[in-house]
Amino acid sequence: MSDQTPTSNQTPRSQIDHLLNEDRRFAPPPEFAANAIATEELYAEASADREAFWAEQARALHWHKPFTEVLDWSNPPFAQWFADGELNVAYNCLDRHVEAGNGDRVALLWEGEPGDERRVTYAELTDEVKRLANVLQGLGIGEGDRVAIYMPMIPEAVAAMLAVVRIGAIHSVVFGGFSADSLRARIDDAGAKLVITADGGYRKGKVSPLKPAVDMALSDRNGSGVQETVEHVLVVKRGENEVEWTDGRDIWWHDVVPQASADHAAKAFPAENPLFILYTSGTTGKPKGILHTSGGYLTQSAFTNKIVHDIHPETDVYWCTADIGWITGHTYVTYGPLANGATQVLYEGTPDTPHPGRWWEIVQKYGVTILYTAPTAIRSFMKIGRSVPKQFDLSSLRLLGSVGEPINPEAWMWYRKVIGGKTAPIVDTWWQTETGAIMVSALPGVTETKPGSAQVPLPGISIDVVDEDGTHVGSGNGGLLVVTEPWPSMLRGIWGDPDRFVETYWDKFRAQGYYFAGDGARLDDDGDVWFLGRVDDVMNVSGHRLSTTEIESALVAHEATAEAAVVGASDETTGQAVVAFVIIKQSYLNENSAEGLSNTLRLWVGEQIGPIARPRDVYIVGELPKTRSGKIMRRLLRDVAEGREVGDTTTLADTAVMSVISAQVK
Ligand code: WT7
Repeated sequence: MSDQTPTSNQTPRSQIDHLLNEDRRFAPPPEFAANAIATEELYAEASADREAFWAEQARALHWHKPFTEVLDWSNPPFAQWFADGELNVAYNCLDRHVEAGNGDRVALLWEGEPGDERRVTYAELTDEVKRLANVLQGLGIGEGDRVAIYMPMIPEAVAAMLAVVRIGAIHSVVFGGFSADSLRARIDDAGAKLVITADGGYRKGKVSPLKPAVDMALSDRNGSGVQETVEHVLVVKRGENEVEWTDGRDIWWHDVVPQASADHAAKAFPAENPLFILYTSGTTGKPKGILHTSGGYLTQSAFTNKIVHDIHPETDVYWCTADIGWITGHTYVTYGPLANGATQVLYEGTPDTPHPGRWWEIVQKYGVTILYTAPTAIRSFMKIGRSVPKQFDLSSLRLLGSVGEPINPEAWMWYRKVIGGKTAPIVDTWWQTETGAIMVSALPGVTETKPGSAQVPLPGISIDVVDEDGTHVGSGNGGLLVVTEPWPSMLRGIWGDPDRFVETYWDKFRAQGYYFAGDGARLDDDGDVWFLGRVDDVMNVSGHRLSTTEIESALVAHEATAEAAVVGASDETTGQAVVAFVIIKQSYLNENSAEGLSNTLRLWVGEQIGPIARPRDVYIVGELPKTRSGKIMRRLLRDVAEGREVGDTTTLADTAVMSVISAQVK
């Protein structure tokens, strides 16, 4: 692919040229470098013997049975890491710290949105997980069973994940902001036997109900053809909101967990035992259940958390602001930091409740030293202005991280100056739900950083930027990001759909055996990587992946809609925003105003999928631009949505269509 190839979501070439002229460089501060966990030598060690390097990182975990094999890549793309080894992931995150004498160390500094707080030590969290593990087994949950977790950001959510994996079951965490329909689809796809939820949790100053969505997801199954797999719903009381109760099915957490025995021996499971499924949007309407397994995932999660976030467990207070409903919350709230014995902040609510300085108040209150968050959050704080963070003492912060989407140099500089006091290094970390853990990032204390570039692959990770034929592109050129060698925390498949796994990620560069990430990227003259966004029909809204097709399906499911096309348009705060173009059935057009219809459809999508999927704009149009073969040309719609002159329309069946649409949108 040449860098001129039109791709769906990429930054225009002129902007990238401008970006690549970025010449600001920030050397690691000497005091930071002196105590940094990462060292320059890691790169040499890893390239000398990649597998030996990963084996060494894996040995930092506790293995009930040590592995003798490192990587089995005899049946690509189905990798096995440390396959003959046995471990217990929860034991690694909990018991071993207690056994090492660190039971009194705080694991979670929890802050509820209303201002209530709880400090949970490693000993307490271990006990809670053991009790819950006993409860789960009592409910008949065992090895390989799937458990859906639909919870607010409370300590019980982390405990639930760990208890599930402690007994060899598989969790599927569903983000609490997803709708009942989205939850139902995920419960059904995984065939979950148990749902762990809460009555509700606090968001934006009020209780946002969760249990009612579970009830709705589990109702109305008659005639749907789907066999009900859920036997029980375990409910934490948090919001104190009124909930309905199905006797025999529903169980209050507080009625069973505190009473359960805190004796629970962690059994060893093979390294390739499935650990969790996490659904993410792809290019079709059906989310993919990304499957991760145990030993390799935990190895890379713990290792990257240590070297990229520079975790010194005795002294640091770490805060990753992601929700456990996303991969970032799995790897850098639950598994990585707890495997490393870190102390971390867990915050339930939204950044601006009850005041716009809430996050900075938390940093000051707990003396947060490491902050890991998303560009969209940074940009929204920029919009509010520096006067808000300036009211708080942020001097404890010594390292800042970014994840989820490209961070524009302006936001990077603001983050550095206003939040990092002009000294804290920034690590821009590129990875995906599928990669399981960080793949590309600067190493703090080692790498000279550059605003806007994710920079270099981590030691032990091999990536490249290639053209459509899989050939390496030179410096200054753009292409597709590939991972050229298997890595420990790589996805092992898509739940129930091995063919889709092969097709989506491995078919494109089958000849080379490369993993295709779906991201465009460019290499600068130093060989540093600049990520340019997705090359497929996947949008990135506030660092969350949404599929255009999934939202289109939701739109056409509304009775007023005849046809719909969705694009991701660039947005100052959220990176990309959902913009929909909808053709309405004539009978509805006669009876409703266009404005009323747009609003109805916006809310409808929010109800169908979840508020994050709600379109920023819904334009009611008379026609959609299509090729002669009937394919919608989203590229042209994106031009309209972003207020640009519309590009080449010569392949359209009806070339006049775009001027009509442009006129309607204004
Ligand atoms: C997609 C993965 C990784 C956890 C959060 C999102 C984009 C992620 C960066 C970054 C540029 C980034 C990519 C990727 N992305 N981090 N530092 N720079 N782009 O996980 O929902 O699986 O999305 O997010 O496009 O493919 P996800």
